[in-house]
Amino acid sequence: MPTRMLTDSVASGQEGLTIGPVTVRRGRKVVLDEVRCGPLRPGEVAGLLGPNGSGKSTLLRMVAGLLPAAGRAELDGLDLSGLSAARRGVFCAYMPQAPLPQLMLGVGEMLEAAARVAGVPAARVADLLGRLGLENFARRPVGALSGGQRQLVALALALIREPRILLLDEPLSALDLRHQLRVMEIVARETRMRGMVTIIVLHDLTMALRHTDHVVLLKGGRVFGEGVPEDVITRDSLSALWGVCARVTTDGVIVDGLADMPAGEESD
Ligand SMILES: Nc1ncnc2c1ncn2[C@@H]1O[C@H](COP(=O)(O)OP(=O)(O)OP(=O)(O)O)[C@@H](O)[C@H]1O
Ligand SMILES: [Mg+2]
Repeated sequence: MPTRMLTDSVASGQEGLTIGPVTVRRGRKVVLDEVRCGPLRPGEVAGLLGPNGSGKSTLLRMVAGLLPAAGRAELDGLDLSGLSAARRGVFCAYMPQAPLPQLMLGVGEMLEAAARVAGVPAARVADLLGRLGLENFARRPVGALSGGQRQLVALALALIREPRILLLDEPLSALDLRHQLRVMEIVARETRMRGMVTIIVLHDLTMALRHTDHVVLLKGGRVFGEGVPEDVITRDSLSALWGVCARVTTDGVIVDGLADMPAGEESD
């Protein structure tokens, strides 16, 4: 991004990632319905939250450029849909929800290839592996790792590319408690240090409350709320979106039980 364009976008208040409108149909079902959110600010981690099937992965894939016809995403006022797939790949790194396949390729080898493609010095691979606690796995084939270890490698593959936009779809789902915290800290630090816009899909609302700067809530393919986590993750939104009775305290979210949900809403 040329400096002038960035300065202009800051002056006009457009700095960051603005998404929408985005509409996605799958057969007769509208999976995302005129979704708009942002601007999501550089240096901040945005949590994308919502029940199963609410459209989180679909929205992330759209921003990654995998559903180019679905709608708009602008970074600092620049329309990303105008970029070639290769150039969009330089802007955005996307970690999918599906686990890495059990390849026989070595962990270090794979990360070095990703670094080379992104024009990042290969020396950063060892540093990143160390920070993720994977230093002893560099020579191991990906297929010889545990599920959680493979999830950390998938995260490393996104981080090593040093993108402007980092898109992480449930990166904590296979990790133990210590690794979950470690990953959230690394993601927050990298996001701040590199001025990235990071969107992270989470199901752990306490984690979202404590470790994100901004939250977007999706319900049935629509934006239900957006703002600072404390304003958006509330007793009412927990009841309306997840159908649970819960308390939001300074210690986090405590779920007391199931709430009644209107008929037909369970499968959103
Ligand atoms: N390829 C597809 N064909 C048809 N419907 C699809 C397809 N992919 C997703 N959907 C539907 O789109 C909706 C949104 O899916 P999406 O994967 O974005 O949800 P999600 O919020 O990421 O859910 P989860 O928390 O379970 O990962 C769901 O109702 C899903 O069944
Ligand atoms: Mg998903």
